[in-house]
Amino acid sequence: MAEILAVGEAMERALALLEGGDVVAIPTETVYGLAADATNGIGVARIFEAKGRPRFNPLIAHVADIAMAERIAVFDPLSKRLAEAFWPGPLTLVLPQRSGNGIHPLVTAGLETIALRMPRGFGGELIARLGRPLAAPSANSSGRISATTAEAVAADLGAKIRLVVDGGATPVGLESTIVKVEGEDLRLLRPGGVAAEDIEAVAGVKLLRGAAAGIEAPGMLASHYAPGAAVRLNAGQVAGGEALLAFGGRRAEGWQGAAALRNLSESGDLREAATNLFAHLQALDQSGATTIAVEPIPFDGLGEAINDRLFRAAAPRDKAD
Ligand code: TXA
Ligand code: MG
Repeated sequence: MAEILAVGEAMERALALLEGGDVVAIPTETVYGLAADATNGIGVARIFEAKGRPRFNPLIAHVADIAMAERIAVFDPLSKRLAEAFWPGPLTLVLPQRSGNGIHPLVTAGLETIALRMPRGFGGELIARLGRPLAAPSANSSGRISATTAEAVAADLGAKIRLVVDGGATPVGLESTIVKVEGEDLRLLRPGGVAAEDIEAVAGVKLLRGAAAGIEAPGMLASHYAPGAAVRLNAGQVAGGEALLAFGGRRAEGWQGAAALRNLSESGDLREAATNLFAHLQALDQSGATTIAVEPIPFDGLGEAINDRLFRAAAPRDKAD
């Protein structure tokens, strides 16, 4: 069972776990977050594993200050103004990523944009001490409501994680508001802890509501990552010229003729495979092969999410959601 430590005594233990690539449940002003070092793929994979998320939805990266945010993403003037007005606080900004920012691609599900926010209280101090951003979705099992007390986190996830930091009931109790600047416009992607009117008052423009044509709705984000190459699943054989995305120790027939080869995990470890998924797909895509053959991947544990993601990558492009 997870240890529960009050904020006043949890800092060193939380830092040690995060440094070691583990997850920690932390209080924020909105809801409890299940946090991992956003630059550590194994840690980020553990978030999905603990939550039992059937899909790799993109996560919010939490920062200690605007300087850290600017090392991760490129701010337009309006986003900067909103950050200065509402941070620390329950506002999340979706921004283009800066290349080479060190954020593991599993955090953003391979998107070119990233969701950023600066939390109040313990979370902010923890990030400043760690010196790196924390990826953190709400600390609840997939399909359950967000936890707003340490007891609720422990009851739900206690068997799967090592530490819950107890900061009492979260003051906001509702996830952050998510907005994104689109040219001259500002779009509300998720209503949350900051009221739309308060954002409009600072921005000087009305918020657009609803998803932009075909994108942004969380369930549709997966299709943002579509490799240029076709993707062929459950490949038992490799045709000459195909690239091969391998898994485990046994190779598909004809692997010697593959145009490029990447193995998600030589030892068949699904957590390792999850952390490699987006980077390997991208590398094979860049090899120039017109098809990426993918070896069978088991469906247990994180395998379900990996298969879901690959299934989306393989879907006919006009039908991909
Ligand atoms: O208050 C909160 O925001 C909490 C606390 C822990 O900070 N976190 C939270 O995270 O609610 P999560 O993972 O449950 O929700 C993240 C939301 C999802 O709806 C996701 O689709 C959206 O952020 N999101 C993340 N990255 C995005 C991106 N690049 N573009 C559009 N939406 C994005
Ligand atoms: Mg959530």
